[in-house]
Amino acid sequence: MIETIEKLKADGIALINDAATLNDVNNVKVKIFGKNGDFTAAMRGLKDVPKEQKPEVGKAFNDVKVMLEGLIAEKERVFAEAEKQARIKSEYIDVTLPGKKELGALHPLTLVKNEILDTFIGLGFEVKEGPEIESDYYNFQLLNIPKDHPARDMQDSLYITDNFLLRTHTSPMQARTMTTQKPPIRIVVPGKVYRNDDDATHSPMFQQVEGLVVDKHITLCDLKGALEVFAKRLFDEKTKVRFRPSYFPFTEPSVEVDVSCSICHGKGCRVCKGTGWIEILGAGIVNPAVLEACGINSKEYSGYAFGFGIERIAMIKYGIPDIRLFFENDKRFLEQYK
Ligand code: PHE
Repeated sequence: MIETIEKLKADGIALINDAATLNDVNNVKVKIFGKNGDFTAAMRGLKDVPKEQKPEVGKAFNDVKVMLEGLIAEKERVFAEAEKQARIKSEYIDVTLPGKKELGALHPLTLVKNEILDTFIGLGFEVKEGPEIESDYYNFQLLNIPKDHPARDMQDSLYITDNFLLRTHTSPMQARTMTTQKPPIRIVVPGKVYRNDDDATHSPMFQQVEGLVVDKHITLCDLKGALEVFAKRLFDEKTKVRFRPSYFPFTEPSVEVDVSCSICHGKGCRVCKGTGWIEILGAGIVNPAVLEACGINSKEYSGYAFGFGIERIAMIKYGIPDIRLFFENDKRFLEQYK
């Protein structure tokens, strides 16, 4: 038996020495100590050893076991370390190499928004922002929007509770400003608005810019002057502005504002559908009822307000046919506006 054990020891050492990889070491471990391993098989012979020799033979088995296991553990440690070093080497990143030159850029809607705001800042307007979750009170009631107005319909507005909804326009900021600020007021309010609407020219989320001026002796002429500066700056110097009568509950009189088509300059083309004009916004003189509801004396003050969609302006300016292009993050689209 002792000879068998000596042979197990010699064979084991040879096998371990020959192992050249971590995988080899694992195979050797199985070959010696596995269920059908050499050592395991030899151990089974222990039961036939005469009783008085058992302690000696048992100890010999154990000594060899401890020794071989130690050698295996050492080899495992060496190989594992070598593999770790190799991996570190292969995954090494040279941080001193120049990066791939792919610069980020502002989204086309941000570019257009900035240009719009710059123009109004130049005209003395202050930029304000307001909440996207709005109360029925500011979104509708203070703006003289009656209970039966279609904008209140569940079909159009995205309600959160009976009294709160995702604002359907930036106009509630008119009311929020007039109830907290004394005239003269001269603000523009960019921000996201939400409507249950989804097609090539409508998105359930889009952005508006609201404008509000309240002061003494404000008339439609002031509105037209400001919008003319805005349109010429945004499109080109030759751009003309025209008003058509319209209706909004919070302005009286109300107008729909068209700009002359910047593609054909009024001759008529596909973009302006042959009319030479493109509708860009709604506006009007602040309804005295709204001034009064907000605590502003309508005998002393008057104002104008306007509101338009940034996406629509950008689509006209760049000839973009589908609003969804703005939100798909297709780099081929975005890169054109860098
Ligand atoms: N809030 C209106 C809309 O979303 C636009 C508007 C703003 C009209 C201000 C008049 C005055 O359609």
